Amino acid sequence: MSRRRQIYEGKAKILYEGPEPGTLIQYFKDDATAFNAQKKGTISGKGVLNNRISEHLFTLLGNIGIPTHFIRRLNMREQLVRQVEIIPIEVVVRNVAAGSLSKRLGIEEGTQLPRTILEYYYKDDALGDPMITEEHIACFGWAGQDELADIVDMAIRTNDFLTGLFAGIGIRLVDFKLEFGRLWEDDYSRVILADEISPDGCRLWDMKTSEKLDKDRFRRDLGGEVEAYQEVARRLGLLPEGADGAVLDLDEARKARKGE
Ligand code: TMP
Ligand code: ASP
Repeated sequence: MSRRRQIYEGKAKILYEGPEPGTLIQYFKDDATAFNAQKKGTISGKGVLNNRISEHLFTLLGNIGIPTHFIRRLNMREQLVRQVEIIPIEVVVRNVAAGSLSKRLGIEEGTQLPRTILEYYYKDDALGDPMITEEHIACFGWAGQDELADIVDMAIRTNDFLTGLFAGIGIRLVDFKLEFGRLWEDDYSRVILADEISPDGCRLWDMKTSEKLDKDRFRRDLGGEVEAYQEVARRLGLLPEGADGAVLDLDEARKARKGE
């Protein structure tokens, strides 16, 4: 497909060298994994939807002053992003008990938490991304004190913003995962939001029916994965009205609507 140099291949995305120094192209695959890649599959059209959903959410977060790696979407499956040094921590933000929290602590899924919980996991597939505390982050130097303070601040602001955004379209933001990276400018670095925000790394429940609109459909063999992701995109205003089943070429659809 391309002669571009591949920098990294992850479970759901590929990173290629970008057109200018300091940029990368982030390619969204249809591959899906769960439980540290013990379960593998593909969700046809997922990459297109996640590219579009993540573009939208990162743009809105950028607009409220949260620095992100997102520059612009290039096509159906690719976006141009700033190259960062990924901080090897997954930050999970939880508003409602679900998933591993419910399992570990025996709290029924769907229980509203009295306050938001932040958790940290060390990004290491061989170790199965173990949960860690701020003590481990400081002890092993994965992020500095100032960096961690910025990460916490951005995670909370992101949660406040996204909780409201999704509530406005009838979706409960149960929990989600964020990743951050260091952007180097000469000898100075600052932390910015990286990776993606999509139904792959969020739990999104319909507020009325509690229907799951996220990757738990795949993890738990519920079926209807792509329809769920499409529903999220549709409610965010990213799919043309009346779009059904098929994943549309969004640019083509937009042009067609404008009669171009
Ligand atoms: P958990 O309940 O399995 O710990 O997941 C919490 C949230 O973090 C959920 O929205 C899914 C997301 N997540 C990822 O994006 N990647 C992961 O590797 C894990 C474990 C969770
Ligand atoms: N995608 C992750 C993995 O396969 C886990 C998950 O999202 O459930 O490791």
